[in-house]
Amino acid sequence: MDDTDSEDELPPGWEERSTKDGWVYYANHDEMRTQWEHPKTGKKKRCAGDLPYGWEQNTNEHGQIVYVDHINKRSTYFDPRQVFTVEDVMVKPKRYDGNSAALEILQGRDLSDKVVLITGGNSGIGFETARSFALHGAHVILACRNLSRANKAVSSIQEDWQKARVEAMMCDLASLRSVREFADSFKAKKLPLHILVCNAAVCTQPWSLTEDGLESTFQVCHLGHFLLVQCLQEVLCRSAPARVVVVSSESHRFTDLLDSCGKVDLARLSPPRKEYWSMLAYNRAKLCNILFSNELHRRLSPHGVSSNAVHPGNMMYTAIHRSWWLMTFLFTLARPFTKSLQQGAATSVYCAVAPELEGLGGMYFNNCFRCEPSAQAQDPDAAAGLWELSERLVAQGETMGQIRAI
Ligand SMILES: NC(=O)c1ccc[n+]([C@@H]2O[C@H](COP(=O)([O-])OP(=O)(O)OC[C@H]3O[C@@H](n4cnc5c(N)ncnc54)[C@H](OP(=O)(O)O)[C@@H]3O)[C@@H](O)[C@H]2O)c1
Repeated sequence: MDDTDSEDELPPGWEERSTKDGWVYYANHDEMRTQWEHPKTGKKKRCAGDLPYGWEQNTNEHGQIVYVDHINKRSTYFDPRQVFTVEDVMVKPKRYDGNSAALEILQGRDLSDKVVLITGGNSGIGFETARSFALHGAHVILACRNLSRANKAVSSIQEDWQKARVEAMMCDLASLRSVREFADSFKAKKLPLHILVCNAAVCTQPWSLTEDGLESTFQVCHLGHFLLVQCLQEVLCRSAPARVVVVSSESHRFTDLLDSCGKVDLARLSPPRKEYWSMLAYNRAKLCNILFSNELHRRLSPHGVSSNAVHPGNMMYTAIHRSWWLMTFLFTLARPFTKSLQQGAATSVYCAVAPELEGLGGMYFNNCFRCEPSAQAQDPDAAAGLWELSERLVAQGETMGQIRAI
C-alpha cells in the first residue's frame, strides 16, 4: 500500500522532468525509459507560467538543461516551473478573488521587460501595487506630488529587494502645468510604458480650487489623470500591448454627472464652494474614473492599449480618510474587517497582467472579477461627453468662464 495520500506522488524509481518548452515527462530509472503520462494518474501535465524572475535556462556541455538562479547564485537540474504545473487539458486561467494578494497573482512572473508608472505610488494601495511590480523585476516609476515622501517609498521598496528598479518623479495632479512637466521629463527618459496605474486620489477634502481654477478632488482624481494619458498616449501606443488601470471605487454608484438635458455637467464636477459636499465630489470623481477608462479603451484599443477600471476594496486603512475626522473614525472601526493592502492592490495587478485580459478592456473589476458598474458608468454618451469636456478643460487658451458659459 502507498504510504502517501497524494495521487501525484510518484512510485519509487520514477522522476518528474520537463522539456525546454515546459512539457512535463516522467523518467523511470529502473527501466531506463520515459513517458508523457503520470505513471499513477495517467494525466499529462505542463508547466504554467514563465521562469521566476532572475532565473535562466541553459544547456551544459553534456546537452543537459540546467536552471540558473542568478539572484541566489545557484544552479539546479530541477525546473522551478514544475512547482506550478497544470493538467494538459485546455489551460483555464487561475481564478482569483477578494482574498487574493497582489504578490500571489504575480507569483512566478518575470516583469523585467516592463515599465510601470503609478500615480500616488508612495502610500497605501498604490505603494503596495508598486512594491509588488518592483519585486517582480519591473522598472517602476512613482509619480508623486511630494518627492520626499516618494523617495522614502523608493527606499522602503529597495530595503525589501536591493536590486528593485524603482524611482520617484514629481507629478502634482492638482496642477496641469506639473502634469505636463512630468510627462516631458518622462518622455526625455526615452522609456517605453507598458502599464499605467492611475491610482492617486484625495477624498473628503474641504473645498479648494486648484491653480487652474477647478475643484481639487475633480482635478486630482480625474482631470490630472486625463491629461497624463493625453500626454503619454504616444508612448503607450508605441509600447503596445500596453494596459491602463484606473482605480475607481464602488462609491461611484451613489451619484450622477448629467444635467436635466442628459449632458455632463461641469457645475457638478467642479462646483462652487456653496454647492460643495466633499463625499459627493469624491463619488463623482470615481464615476469619472470609470467613464474615462471606458472611453480611453474605445479610443486606444485599436492601437494596442487597453484600459479597465477597478474597485480595490472597501475602507482599507490607508491615508485616504485623513481629511475628515468622521472618515478616520469609520475607517478605524472597520479596520479589523477590511482587506490588507496586498489584497487591495490585487485587482489592479490582476488587470495589469492577467493573460486572459490581453487586449480586453472597457470593463470594471472588483475582487479580481468583472462586475457591472452603475448604469451611468456604462453610458457611452456620458463617457464621450466627459472626454470632450476634459479635452477642453486641459486645452490651453480656453478660460473656465468660456467653458461654463456653454
Ligand atoms: N482605501 C480604500 O478603502 C479605498 C476604497 C476604494 C477606492 N480607493 C481608491 O484607491 C486609490 C488609492 O487610495 P489609498 O486608499 O491608497 O489612499 P492614500 O494612501 O491616501 O493614497 C493616495 C495617493 O494619492 C496621492 N495624491 C493625492 N493627491 C495627489 C496629487 N495632487 N498629485 C499626485 N498624487 C496625489 C497621495 O499622495 P500623498 O501621500 O502625497 O498625499 C497618495 O500617494 C484611490 O484612487 C482611492 O480612491 C481606496
